Amino acid sequence: MGAKITSSSSSFNVLALLLTLLLCISTNVQLSLADTTSKTYTNYLQTACNSTTYPQLCFKSLSSYTSTIKTNYLKLCRTALTVTLKAASNTSSLVKALSKQKGLSKTEAGIVKDCIEEIGDSIDELNQSLKALGSLKGSDIEFQIANIKTWISAAITDEDTCTEGFEERNITDEVMIKIRKSIVNVARLTSNALALINKLSY
Ligand SMILES: *[C@@H]1O[C@H](CO)[C@@H](O)[C@H](O)[C@H]1NC(C)=O
Ligand SMILES: *[C@@H]1O[C@H](CO)[C@@H](O)[C@H](O)[C@H]1NC(C)=O
Ligand SMILES: *[C@@H]1O[C@H](CO)[C@@H](O)[C@H](O)[C@H]1NC(C)=O
Ligand SMILES: *[C@@H]1O[C@H](CO)[C@@H](O)[C@H](O)[C@H]1NC(C)=O
Repeated sequence: MGAKITSSSSSFNVLALLLTLLLCISTNVQLSLADTTSKTYTNYLQTACNSTTYPQLCFKSLSSYTSTIKTNYLKLCRTALTVTLKAASNTSSLVKALSKQKGLSKTEAGIVKDCIEEIGDSIDELNQSLKALGSLKGSDIEFQIANIKTWISAAITDEDTCTEGFEERNITDEVMIKIRKSIVNVARLTSNALALINKLSY
């Protein structure tokens, strides 16, 4: 009797051990699969970013979206535009807030006022591009992509016009330096988005 109980309990133990082993193996396989997948996505982004004007900024700005982008180039382009639009809206709020601060000279206030307008235009153009990129369809997709490129180029021109206003003067004011940095960042993100979309093919 005693021996029988021991034997069945030991075979139970063996079974439990086997199950535990199986569980461990399958968990490990899943973990390493997830690892490989995430590496694939990261490599995909790195390779795509390598063909942009500012590869490091491209990777940094998009690396938290790899699980959305996966290896889908259209999604990559859309995400890059979305991130750029967000940054531009952010910059617009920053510039608007800073423009209300006292202490800007008349010249500086003029530069900032022009910039608010130019950033606003660039936001509209980026927004239009994003909408078009989200609804590519029909027989004239190449024409639609060409329009998107034109709008993004216009956005870059607007952003450049704004930063040129800064470069013409010897800006030492901290507020102005902060604004300029923020706009330069947006201009670089936009340039990267255009580089990515330039390689979009159908
Ligand atoms: C990206 O470019 C850098 C420098 O040119 C290179 O070292 C790196 O291997 C490239 N990475 C990918 C994923 O293409
Ligand atoms: C928005 O601007 C603030 C202030 O400059 C910055 O700290 C923040 O990281 C920005 N967010 C995005 C999404 O660009
Ligand atoms: C983009 O355009 C839509 C209308 O088409 C508007 O509701 C939205 O606020 C715009 N986004 C930005 C960031 O301007
Ligand atoms: C900019 O202005 C600061 C102080 O007003 C001056 O020290 C500096 O030399 C100027 N730089 C240039 C490039 O003009």
